[in-house]
Amino acid sequence: MKAWAVLLLSVIVYAKHDQYEGWKSYYLGPKSQEQLQSIGPLVQQFELDVFSYVNLEREGVVLVKPEHQDGFTRALEEKGIAYRIHSADVKTALEYDDIAVEIKRRENLARKGKELPYDNYQEIEEIAAYLTDIAERYPDRTTLVSGADSFEGRPVYYLKISTTNFEDTRKPVIFIDGGIHAREWISPPTVTWAIHKLLENVTEPDLLERFDWILLPVVNPDGYKYTFTNERMWRKTRSTDQTNTSITCPGVDGNRNYDFFWNTVGTSSNPCSITYAGSRPFSEVETRVVRSILHEHLDRIALYLTMHSFGSLILYPWGNDGSLSHNALNLHLVGVAIADEILAHTLPIFPRYVVGNAALAIGYAASGAAEDYAHSIGVPLSYTIELPSLGQGFILDPRYIEQVCRETWQGIVVGARMAGDLFVL
Ligand code: ARG
Ligand code: ZN
Repeated sequence: MKAWAVLLLSVIVYAKHDQYEGWKSYYLGPKSQEQLQSIGPLVQQFELDVFSYVNLEREGVVLVKPEHQDGFTRALEEKGIAYRIHSADVKTALEYDDIAVEIKRRENLARKGKELPYDNYQEIEEIAAYLTDIAERYPDRTTLVSGADSFEGRPVYYLKISTTNFEDTRKPVIFIDGGIHAREWISPPTVTWAIHKLLENVTEPDLLERFDWILLPVVNPDGYKYTFTNERMWRKTRSTDQTNTSITCPGVDGNRNYDFFWNTVGTSSNPCSITYAGSRPFSEVETRVVRSILHEHLDRIALYLTMHSFGSLILYPWGNDGSLSHNALNLHLVGVAIADEILAHTLPIFPRYVVGNAALAIGYAASGAAEDYAHSIGVPLSYTIELPSLGQGFILDPRYIEQVCRETWQGIVVGARMAGDLFVL
């Protein structure tokens, strides 16, 4: 690319990431379960922004504010936890990521129709247009629902897919959501790809015969939009009605907002924190949409998946304290089957998935998460999936989006079939 083009595009994206001036990111490589478990407290103490989850098989990545960098690295050295620089200049790294996406976006402008890109990240308007178009093209199999308007008034869309208009109540339901964490851009495309595979490019017809599906690509449309327009690393919702300080520090961490040991661990009561749990459980209209879906179909939901990034992890309850549920064996077996199938379809450059308890696998307990809540009310198989990255930069290179969607779908296929076999009404 020509230098002037880089310059022009850097002007467009300029100043978007000013708040990351002086920030650095570090790879962490704990070598024992003890070292791993000692990372959780550091997250709180040094206000770390966990970008990619660490586990014993591979390094994770955390972002650290300038004022905490010395204390943080000293604490790591004291504990003997290996670390190295991931990015010495987070702000500039984010600007470069923007340029890559912007170039691809301009290239794609010529593309016609309502087709969603899988060679670039999907914008909220594109996803909404796609869902509307799909509902029009497949009227006898789909129902498009807006669960509610988001805090800023965007529809929180989900698509119901069924051969019987959800009327055959003997069919188990598979529910998949994405995009609760705004910046995790690889999550929504894995959900829209599932829609594509259930309607437009059917290679597993049994999945539609056997199950009803609920697919919610973007739980948090306001935050998602904000990551495209204002702040690439935004994670939370955009609500400003929590406390008096919520005006200066908007937003709630949706995945700390569910009513499961709410605001007890791995969360913050400070609205300015990236893990702010909200003023009360389900303070957010967006998490209430997910709650309604879960409760409306509770007796039939065989499998719930909530898509996040990054970490190549399949995590199951209980993530607040590392204990296991009554259904732990099945949770583990189905999780391993999903991971195995993804492994069979992945590229060698991607890390292998690790399957485990949400708190133990990443050394970081957190309460109020969706997968724990769903399981606590009776969903037998409930997982957080941390999608893979290549460990470089802050974005998965757009050329790998489709690969991640394809391999993740293969995992979903196996997970759904196993969930169906295990499900008893
Ligand atoms: N990335 C997820 C989050 O921080 C991990 C949640 C894991 N689940 C749990 N119950 N702690 O929100
Ligand atoms: Zn997440």
